[in-house]
Amino acid sequence: TRIYVPCDTTALSLGADEVARQIQQAADERGLSITLVRNGSRGLCWLEPLVEVDTGQGRIAFGPVEPDDVPTLIEAGLLEGRPDHEACLGNIEEHPYLKRQQRLTFARIGLTDPLSIEDYREHGGFQGLARAVELSGQAIVDQVKESGLRGRGGAAFPTGIKWQTVLDQPDDQQKYIVCNADEGDSGSFADRLVMECDPYLLIEGMVIAGLAVGADQGFIYLREEYPVAHRILDEAIARAEAEGYLGADVRGTGQSFYLEVRLAAGAYICGEETSLLESLEGKRGLVRAKPPLPAIHGLFGQPTIVNNVLSLATVPFILAQGASAYADVGMGKSRGTLPIQLAGNIRQGGLIELGFGVTLREILEDFGSGTLSGRPMKAVQVGGPLMAYLPESQWDTPMDYEAFAGLGAGIGHGGVVVFDDTVDMGAQARFAMEFCAVESCGKCTPCRIGSVRGVEVIDRIRAGERPEENLALLEDLCETMVDGSLCAMGGMTPFPVQSVMKHFPDDLTG
Ligand code: NAI
Ligand code: SF4
Repeated sequence: TRIYVPCDTTALSLGADEVARQIQQAADERGLSITLVRNGSRGLCWLEPLVEVDTGQGRIAFGPVEPDDVPTLIEAGLLEGRPDHEACLGNIEEHPYLKRQQRLTFARIGLTDPLSIEDYREHGGFQGLARAVELSGQAIVDQVKESGLRGRGGAAFPTGIKWQTVLDQPDDQQKYIVCNADEGDSGSFADRLVMECDPYLLIEGMVIAGLAVGADQGFIYLREEYPVAHRILDEAIARAEAEGYLGADVRGTGQSFYLEVRLAAGAYICGEETSLLESLEGKRGLVRAKPPLPAIHGLFGQPTIVNNVLSLATVPFILAQGASAYADVGMGKSRGTLPIQLAGNIRQGGLIELGFGVTLREILEDFGSGTLSGRPMKAVQVGGPLMAYLPESQWDTPMDYEAFAGLGAGIGHGGVVVFDDTVDMGAQARFAMEFCAVESCGKCTPCRIGSVRGVEVIDRIRAGERPEENLALLEDLCETMVDGSLCAMGGMTPFPVQSVMKHFPDDLTG
């Protein structure tokens, strides 16, 4: 019998190691031979730890399984592969939460043992790389351009155009591929899931990027608070190198590609690409002015692709299945799929990969099943702490970069955080300014000083001090920060504040 117990951070934090230990111990005590696989997570977070058993009828799942539940599961016949238990969810592939998704990037997530390179190959892994080695650098870049893929880190800049800029720099220049894995936005966890549950996917995407633009060195700049991802990536890199997917002469191409993980130091601003590069160079994470673009003058002054984990992890599918297979999904200028991360006060939080065009309400109701508290929803923040709060009147908007921009909002990295009607939106507005005051790199005045003044003005408004005058001051301050800040940190902090002023004014003035 093959039994699966996930090994990602969510499952581990909910006791998955102890669940696995007890299952193995029970098998040993009964003299039964089982294969215990530590798979990745399916991304159905509210069901973790999600234990699966391979049976003739597919993989039957149980969840959530707490360590205390293991004895009753064993009694119900888990070890013999005939389980009958109240936590049984049936064939996991048929679960509506999964069945309704279009998993292109996350196709393998939860199916495989993340560190098994054989598992990866058996489930379609390295097919994108196999295609890439047959193509010229320009032909690879053309595929990425034709797919319509836009940067999934949040800014949605066309990935293929970024790669073209790096490819067009002289061949005798040292070039780099840098993966931005400093996933700092509240409610975001898709990058972590890729790295912990399907690390070879990211490695494959980075090797393809290296072959495309002629870069022989890659770095994964990893969020410090992701120790599980760190361990898994380091091991996956070593195994990929041992099998010739990394190192000198990748798969007989004559091109080299070396890859290293560099641990970030816990600063939100180091997720901004230029301060990330400063940090990688060993300096303090101060934002650089753009231009010059990192694509031309990046790491150590050399042409550098800086892409988010999800952007790079999407490339293997595009190469393996062809650009049009990806471009055929989506709406308008938002092509392909969006890995949505549903979190906050929600019953069924998790990873939902769907083509662009699904509405926020479908995500909240059909997938999320309402709030965890059972109370009405009041506000939803999409795209991280620098994005607008959306009131219910905006929840029928399709998930599409342009549609969200039309609301003065954004999709960002695809995180969706839900709040019920007990939330104090005035406090959320204050939090935005306070967050910026703490995380500002300090280089420019509107952000460094403006955010501190922003907290003070909001405090005065909430205390009822000359509200009209202070509201006008807050509006003016927000405009100054949007127009005068050097990067998105100061430039976008006003968006959640302005959305509260517009949609939840009573919470601000009390
Ligand atoms: P940006 O619009 O300045 O740049 C987007 C990307 O395109 C950059 O990599 C830039 O170097 C590149 N680029 C622009 N023109 C180019 C050209 N002609 N050739 C080649 N490359 C070119 O946006 P920025 O400041 O990089 O990102 C802001 C976004 O980051 C926000 O919209 C927000 O959603 C997101 N964000 C994400 C977070 C996360 O945890 N994932 C955290 C905070 C913000
Ligand atoms: Fe630094 Fe803030 Fe200016 Fe960005 S906006 S450069 S984080 S001070």
